[in-house]
Amino acid sequence: MTTTTGARPRMLTGDRPTGRLHLGHYVGSIANRCALQRDYQSHFIIADLHMLTTKNTREDIANSGANARDMVLDSLAAGLDPELSVFYLQSAIPEVMEINTLFQNLVTVPRLERVPSLKEMARDAGKEEMPYGLLGYPVLQAADILCVRAHAVPVGKDNAAHVEVAREIARRFNNLYGETFPVPELIPAEVPSLVGTDGRAKMSKSLGNAIYLSDSPDEVRRKVRGMYTDPNRTRADVPGTVEGNPVFHYHDAFNPDTAEVDDLKERYRTGRVGDVEVKTRLATAINAFLDPMRERRARFEGEPGLVDRLIVEGTEATRAAVRATVRDMRRAMGLDAVYASFTSAAQRGRRAVSA
Ligand code: TRP
Repeated sequence: MTTTTGARPRMLTGDRPTGRLHLGHYVGSIANRCALQRDYQSHFIIADLHMLTTKNTREDIANSGANARDMVLDSLAAGLDPELSVFYLQSAIPEVMEINTLFQNLVTVPRLERVPSLKEMARDAGKEEMPYGLLGYPVLQAADILCVRAHAVPVGKDNAAHVEVAREIARRFNNLYGETFPVPELIPAEVPSLVGTDGRAKMSKSLGNAIYLSDSPDEVRRKVRGMYTDPNRTRADVPGTVEGNPVFHYHDAFNPDTAEVDDLKERYRTGRVGDVEVKTRLATAINAFLDPMRERRARFEGEPGLVDRLIVEGTEATRAAVRATVRDMRRAMGLDAVYASFTSAAQRGRRAVSA
């Protein structure tokens, strides 16, 4: 796993362990992770402390382990090389919480209140008032990014504002205490975001409108058959709308046969193709896209203990790096010097008494 070509810049990204990865995750971030894994030393966080900001029952926590395994397996199936990737469990590195505490003083409450995704998350979780931890979500994310001194953060649209907060915190720390962190760069997705199968703005597990990387060919066909399309099109000979139609949005994202897609769009606009044909071809394209992942998944599933070993080794390697960062931070801030002054004075005192 951990490769030691120290010269490569570092990237860090990851997900909360709340479920399996779906096509929205793929276009938002996984595609970039796969594309960049050879150029960057890659750390992938399983962000269970972030999960706690909206899901913190014993049951949520009990489920997070299985979800984490699924996510790592999904990532390997999607094309991340286990030799190049460092996966780690956030809550197993308590030093991250120490960094979080030190960062909390480098950002203001109104600044965090302006981060749009937090209000959305509070609303989606059914919270009437903003939990303190959820307001601090981007600060904890800054701790994740900066704890390994990452240079690059490939994330989807929802997380862009969080990376901006991390950049501000890095600059603020460097200004106050001396150059300690690189200012991390956001790597945006090529396909900005993926609508759900129901046509709602976002593919998400909680909305029940997701196609998972682990779905079987039959599940994909069933979900695509049920997809939302142009509701005004009651028959195949009624001209339809392509723009904003999720079925064509997916064709654009997953069907590499652009001639076929153009032909379908043309016939759709002029009422010369049925929804069944458009959807059948889409299901075929998505299955062709997922087939290599299915093969890789089967191969990795045949290596018992692989995922668990990757998580443990990755967590230990990351923890060592984070410890070094915390040590440098405390030195830069002069915190260590304060306690050191007590310990040396206390020692002098003890020597004086015993003399
Ligand atoms: N906020 C990410 C999500 O939406 C998870 C996450 C936590 C993360 N820490 C991170 C992503 C650091 C990138 C970098 O689930």
